[in-house]
Amino acid sequence: MKGTISVKRNSRWAKFSIDAEANTPVTMILDELNSRETLLEADGSPAEPIVWECSCDQGVCGSCAMVINGSPRLACSAFFGEVGPDVKVEPLSKFPLVADLKVDRSSISKSLSEMKIWLEDDDALVSDVDMQYTSASCMLCGCCLEVCPNYSGEGKFFGAVGMNACFRTAEQLSGSAKRERLSYFAKHGDAGCSKSLACQVVCPAKIPLSVVISRLNRERFLSVFYRNK
Ligand code: SF4
Ligand code: SF4
Ligand code: FES
Repeated sequence: MKGTISVKRNSRWAKFSIDAEANTPVTMILDELNSRETLLEADGSPAEPIVWECSCDQGVCGSCAMVINGSPRLACSAFFGEVGPDVKVEPLSKFPLVADLKVDRSSISKSLSEMKIWLEDDDALVSDVDMQYTSASCMLCGCCLEVCPNYSGEGKFFGAVGMNACFRTAEQLSGSAKRERLSYFAKHGDAGCSKSLACQVVCPAKIPLSVVISRLNRERFLSVFYRNK
């Protein structure tokens, strides 16, 4: 199947001619372009190899997240037959650009660190293993932040990825440690979230973020209510 792939490189679109099977993922298309002896744009002008990230190629590591035809998704799970024949790929816009399709997502790690998403003792409570497991499938890809109307990369709102991580920690803690994590949810999540749930629609891990957010709110209410009793 013949088509084109346009890659946003800084401020301009570079268009390349491609010929691929319908079941070829965008990662393989990018790989094929970079493996050409001489990479030429569709108009014949020479081009440098495309910079982008990919690790597992199986939809679990999140490194290949990019905006494809206007929506954030994993390039290794976006197949030519679905997104072609004319594909447009660009970098996630909520992170500093490194080059071409590669961005610096270290702000996610910093926000999770600020929310202290770790346990502090050995008596972790695990009450809902299925939900913990589902929540833990987050690959820190950043797709949820790309569509979030309230996330800018600056300020104290950390978006769905932060709330999801906070959820796992808070559910396994009790007492003052739990209250502390729930206060981070209030400050870095609930206060900035307008509950549009665009994050849930694009999450490639299919994490039920509406459940995550509502359960955190419930836990927060209960922790405040019972502490004041
Ligand atoms: S529900 Fe809306 S505002 Fe809240 S994190 Fe998701 S996309 Fe952002
Ligand atoms: S919550 Fe979903 S969209 Fe957001 S970083 Fe995790 S896996 Fe990606
Ligand atoms: S390369 Fe790992 S999710 Fe796409």
